[in-house]
Amino acid sequence: MSISTSSRTDELLSLARKRLILNFADHGALASTPFPVIDRGEGCYVIDTDGKRYIDGISGLFCSNLGHSHGRELGAAAAAQMDRLPFSTLWSYAHPKAIELADKVATLAPDGIEHVFFTSGGSESVEAAWKLARQYHALNGEPQRRKAIARKVAYHGTSLGALSFTGIPPYRHPFEPLAVPTHHVSNTRRYGHPLAADETAFTASLVSELEEAIEFEGPDQVAIFIAEPVQNAGGALPPPAGYWQAVIEVCHRHGILVVSDEVICAYGRLGEWFGGDRYDYVPDLISTAKGLTSAHFSMGALLVHERVAQPFLQGRGMYAHGITFGGHPVGCAVALANLHILEREAVLENVRANETYFRESLERLRAIPLVGDVRGAGYFWSLELVADAQSGAALPADDCDWLLKELLSDALLDRGLICRTDDRGDPCVQLAPPLVADRGVLDEIVSILEASLTEADAAYRNRARQP
Ligand SMILES: Cc1ncc(COP(=O)(O)O)c(C=O)c1O
Repeated sequence: MSISTSSRTDELLSLARKRLILNFADHGALASTPFPVIDRGEGCYVIDTDGKRYIDGISGLFCSNLGHSHGRELGAAAAAQMDRLPFSTLWSYAHPKAIELADKVATLAPDGIEHVFFTSGGSESVEAAWKLARQYHALNGEPQRRKAIARKVAYHGTSLGALSFTGIPPYRHPFEPLAVPTHHVSNTRRYGHPLAADETAFTASLVSELEEAIEFEGPDQVAIFIAEPVQNAGGALPPPAGYWQAVIEVCHRHGILVVSDEVICAYGRLGEWFGGDRYDYVPDLISTAKGLTSAHFSMGALLVHERVAQPFLQGRGMYAHGITFGGHPVGCAVALANLHILEREAVLENVRANETYFRESLERLRAIPLVGDVRGAGYFWSLELVADAQSGAALPADDCDWLLKELLSDALLDRGLICRTDDRGDPCVQLAPPLVADRGVLDEIVSILEASLTEADAAYRNRARQP
């Protein structure tokens, strides 16, 4: 990579290599290659220690929904709360900010979702959903419901409970056997599917696979089905028409609770507050995090449907779960300020106003033979890469590694775009710009993609011609 390295950056890189264990990182490769050290942010951009600007095309990690220019206002909310009450728990006590935030989130949520349990992040929200579901079933006389159904290639977190639901074998294998017996069914990737042209038949085949999985595992043994409104890993996979409604019907017929994992999708990513607003469904539980504070505080929330909360609220049993920092007053103050800004600045409206424009701009990249599919919703998109878009031939594994990791990620970074080249499922370039991005930023993203993909395409064809 051709990032410049000043002496300050060199010092930081060497200290980072000495001290930091990075998330999901190839430390072997990073030992000899400079990587960006991000120092500050400005709107939809981040700037490294050498002053190089990048578009934050992935919103940090699908979480900096407001971008990077509201730190002062959110910081003031945090400072005021620290001055008043830096910490208090929700362990049989409460504090005003948690009460206000729970009320705000429940008011924004789909009808029937009335209760909120706070966590410190996404994996914790997913685990909180699992534990609540288990106890809900036990309180209803069904303690034997100990299994889950999730989807292939989906990412639901890495703590041991959440990892059980994650359907990415290399993340799971080192830690098996996992805590929750989980059956993984097909996700909603339509590209290349034999029923791709018939959406109704595609939905029906997915739902019938789910029903078969339920039958196989034992309908009275399954506690939850968990899935994202639009699945991230595998490349922004939206549901086909009727999918969520049919999934909920099947699950409820068998007494299974439906968890909509909206750690990425909630709070505006799809141009709506929640996935159910976009796709017209009401799940039993919604796990959220990231966008709740636009990443200005580490915080999540599990949202609970009235009927699922009732056994606990009526005192039939105690929800045997708690997290020291769940509902941290400073986090709640930041989250309230974040939601206020999202409303004041009509941020969701911005996403809705630009979604079609963004999609159409990305669609133009289909002219590059490497680009097989363009899919997503709101400000959450993926380009699936193939060897040849016309035939749909997949990229061979070796080429894929080289293309994504060596060529494309460097080309994009060099041109000043941080996005994600992902090979957890089929190879994709993932995009999730801050929800405040205007058409100028979206144009810049697409033009960097176009130049980088055109270059990668030429290099790929050149390589294929080599003996
Ligand atoms: C859908 C989904 N669920 C759960 C998680 C886990 O969240 P966290 O990394 O905050 O624990 C993620 C993280 O990206 C996610 O995308």
